[in-house]
Amino acid sequence: MKLWKALEKQDEEYFKEAASTGKLDDHLYMYYMPYSYTAEQIRKLRTFIFHMPDREVPRVIMITSALPAEGKSLVASNLAISIAKGEDQHVLLVECDIRKPSLHTLFKYPPSKGVVEIIQGKAEVADCLIKTPIDKLTILPAAKEAPPNPSELLESKNMKSLIKEVSERYSDRFIIIDTSPIQATVDPKILAGQVDAIIMVSRYRYTREADFKMALETLPKDKVIGIVLNAVDELPAKKYKYKKYNYSKYYS
Ligand SMILES: Nc1ncnc2c1ncn2[C@@H]1O[C@H](COP(=O)(O)OP(=O)(O)O)[C@@H](O)[C@H]1O
Ligand SMILES: [Mg+2]
Repeated sequence: MKLWKALEKQDEEYFKEAASTGKLDDHLYMYYMPYSYTAEQIRKLRTFIFHMPDREVPRVIMITSALPAEGKSLVASNLAISIAKGEDQHVLLVECDIRKPSLHTLFKYPPSKGVVEIIQGKAEVADCLIKTPIDKLTILPAAKEAPPNPSELLESKNMKSLIKEVSERYSDRFIIIDTSPIQATVDPKILAGQVDAIIMVSRYRYTREADFKMALETLPKDKVIGIVLNAVDELPAKKYKYKKYNYSKYYS
């Protein structure tokens, strides 16, 4: 009986979570270059989130943008690392971009069950979590296999209940949700209703003002707490030292 108990515990603690394998992606500046200028900007974003005037600290935070490739996943990942590096904050990074998942390339884990399989009723949240080398940072991946009907899946009630379940079940953690672009899909609009706060990403010299405005219009305004201007290629000082695209700036 004792042995069985011991096994059960081990099973829970050590075998349920798959893990990152290999070297993480260099773009995880908060992990590799915590004292770089970019990491400093991400820390500022974290500080802003924790000290917003007249507002409770948001616990479920969605990162979104108008277009593909603006840097949503990169900002979500670095922000998640930054919060997890705090004294006692645990973070769950949830990948809701099920059409174009990319967290596996940043955190180097094999194709793994996640949001899609949970919505389909084929998996439990606890069985899908991915352990990362960053203490206190866990990932809930998008899917092991891309689903044939992403829109139907995401529009389903189950998506809403998934975010609810995750935020209630892990009520001691910050939940950072990485999403797909607003222009291409309806998912971020659906998810917006389930979160405490939204951060928009806009890529310097890439996102057109009209696209950005159109995307912003679709979101609940009171939830949008800030905008990250990503991949600015000029620094105010010492700009010759930095390569293109290594700098993210935050505007409230
Ligand atoms: N600030 C940045 N510096 C360098 N590369 C960046 C930066 N932001 C984004 N990228 C690169 O641009 C590509 C798209 O970024 P990603 O975060 O996947 O965008 P999204 O999630 O919005 O589609 C990736 O290859 C990423 O590494
Ligand atoms: Mg992405």
